[in-house]
Amino acid sequence: MSGDPYSGAASRWASGASLVYGPAAEALVRRCPHPLEGRLVLDAGAGTGAATAPLVAAGARVVAVDRSAGMLGWRAADRPPSVVADVRALPLGDDAVAAAVAAFVLNHLPDPVRGLAELGRVTRRGGAVLASVFATDFRSALRDRVDAAAADAGWQVPDWYLAMKADTVPLVGDAPAMARAAREAGLDDVAAEQCTVDVGIERAEQLVDYRFGQAPFAAWLDALGVRRAGDVRSAAVAALPARVAYRPRVVVLVARAR
Ligand SMILES: C[S@@+](CC[C@H](N)C(=O)[O-])C[C@H]1O[C@@H](n2cnc3c(N)ncnc32)[C@H](O)[C@@H]1O
Repeated sequence: MSGDPYSGAASRWASGASLVYGPAAEALVRRCPHPLEGRLVLDAGAGTGAATAPLVAAGARVVAVDRSAGMLGWRAADRPPSVVADVRALPLGDDAVAAAVAAFVLNHLPDPVRGLAELGRVTRRGGAVLASVFATDFRSALRDRVDAAAADAGWQVPDWYLAMKADTVPLVGDAPAMARAAREAGLDDVAAEQCTVDVGIERAEQLVDYRFGQAPFAAWLDALGVRRAGDVRSAAVAALPARVAYRPRVVVLVARAR
């Protein structure tokens, strides 16, 4: 992927996409097999800090890394230290952190084994390496209706998003593939499973704000302007039943560095 598809996405991500990514990150961090209190933990592909928040709540000291300066810059003064870097070439020494969390970033990598190996390198022996991605077999007719409402208003699926779905998402998009990648990366005690996460999305407005908060919509919504973007949001909400129950399926990896 060239360029930064997240460069203008931070504000909508933090207020919209995080409705799902926040609870999903919380569920991931809860799986950590050892205490986090007082320990230095890496949030890799941190974005606007969905996983940083539960890590801090668990008492961890966090260092965040992301390829997107725009995402890391979101409310940076209120967040732990961060550095713009690729998760496959982390600017950290061996055994630098007690644990590493990679929430919904491995799906961006053409070489997720390299990313996982790098997480293992910087995590001290026995420390947790936690990762999550959306399962490739997860479908939502309701989310598709939101996309259709956007398409009716002129949204076109960005090429980078199509390429990601076709090329990199499947590499770790089911539990066996994730487990294979983690073992190949040299991680220990590898456990990968697919689970449904109750992210608490119950209303049409929440589902639309989540979906429109994602990066593929950011540039398009910005170009529409506030009033027109509001009209599109209303049309998408009207395309849904008032009550929705959006429960994504997620592949979760819990492993240890060796
Ligand atoms: C789907 S978002 C997830 C953000 C955050 N972890 C969350 O759960 O809300 C993916 C993030 O990974 C970052 N990213 C993509 N490829 C990356 C790479 N090779 N190295 C570091 N960050 C990357 C993007 O900039 C983006 O912030």
